[in-house]
Amino acid sequence: MKAAQINSYGSEDVLQLSADAPKPVAGAGEVLVEVYAAGVNPFDIKVREGKLQEVKQLQFPATLGGDLAGIVSEIGEGVMEFKVGDAVFGQANALGGQGSYAEFTTLKAEALAPKPNSLDFINAAGAPLVGVSAYQALVDHAGLKKGQKILIHGGAGGIGTFAIQLAKHLGAYVATTASAGDAEYVKNLGADEVIDYKTQAFEKLIKDYDVVYDTVGGETFVRSHEVLKQGGILVTMAGKPDDELAKQYSIKVIGQVTKVINEKLAKLAELLDKGVVKVNIDKVFPLDQAGEAQAYLKAGQHRGKVVLKIK
Ligand SMILES: NC(=O)c1ccc[n+]([C@@H]2O[C@H](COP(=O)([O-])OP(=O)(O)OC[C@H]3O[C@@H](n4cnc5c(N)ncnc54)[C@H](OP(=O)(O)O)[C@@H]3O)[C@@H](O)[C@H]2O)c1
Repeated sequence: MKAAQINSYGSEDVLQLSADAPKPVAGAGEVLVEVYAAGVNPFDIKVREGKLQEVKQLQFPATLGGDLAGIVSEIGEGVMEFKVGDAVFGQANALGGQGSYAEFTTLKAEALAPKPNSLDFINAAGAPLVGVSAYQALVDHAGLKKGQKILIHGGAGGIGTFAIQLAKHLGAYVATTASAGDAEYVKNLGADEVIDYKTQAFEKLIKDYDVVYDTVGGETFVRSHEVLKQGGILVTMAGKPDDELAKQYSIKVIGQVTKVINEKLAKLAELLDKGVVKVNIDKVFPLDQAGEAQAYLKAGQHRGKVVLKIK
């Protein structure tokens, strides 16, 4: 089968199409999916660059990719929830070397759910990691409620696009940071207030917020402490929580690890089918341009999602 693979860690040039990668077989508790489309995430880039070697060393050649939408092709022992021919979306193990940038991949049945009916495969493949991340942060961690104020960093990004829509649906007042060129885009998603992160210091402009959702990390994460009222909640996707700093500001800081599991995917599918949140596909690449797709995502000009069309 065709698969976009790496034989060593490195720049996007190491990500190459193999025409004869072995087709995987579904083990116990697993499902073999024929992948129609694969979402591209910053995490996949970190895997390729070797930045996650401390977590897991890849065996080469390794097929990259996590997010996917496709059709169930084979069922492993003990899997009861799916049958051959089901349309599904979910997340392959992006660190397992048998990822979604391929014609077929295997994944745990628990990381899969029925594809939202109203979405095609391209749009469905753009949803799992970013959609579940936003849901976990705003609903599970922050418990965001009507009338509360939230600052969402990186509003035009993959996660930000979902987070703004979900926060508005929950009835919150939404401020977001984005580049000036993305201001209209984030307003159309529902943002009440847009702060140009390149020319304005957000922590000087807003105060006493209930929640900050940080998808950027670094000094953006550190400065975010100043925006919250006492008892406020800061959820970060990329920052390193510091207990002392959190205590100093009397806030709760959560370093999120997103868990893409069946139950959350099903909630996400419901929101997508009701039209509460929409996927924004920025650009679609063919599988043999997986390296170009990652480079495009890393360059930071996208709004929403970059996806590989495989079938
Ligand atoms: N912890 C976890 O389990 C987990 C799960 C999923 C994702 N993540 C991480 O979460 C992060 C975001 O993911 P994503 O898919 O949303 O990425 P993305 O699509 O690349 O979006 C990032 C957004 O942040 C904006 N940005 C960059 N620097 C900024 C700054 N200083 N202030 C405000 N906005 C800024 C970018 O805007 P420009 O276009 O202007 O550069 C872009 O719109 C990544 O680091 C990813 O690895 C973590």
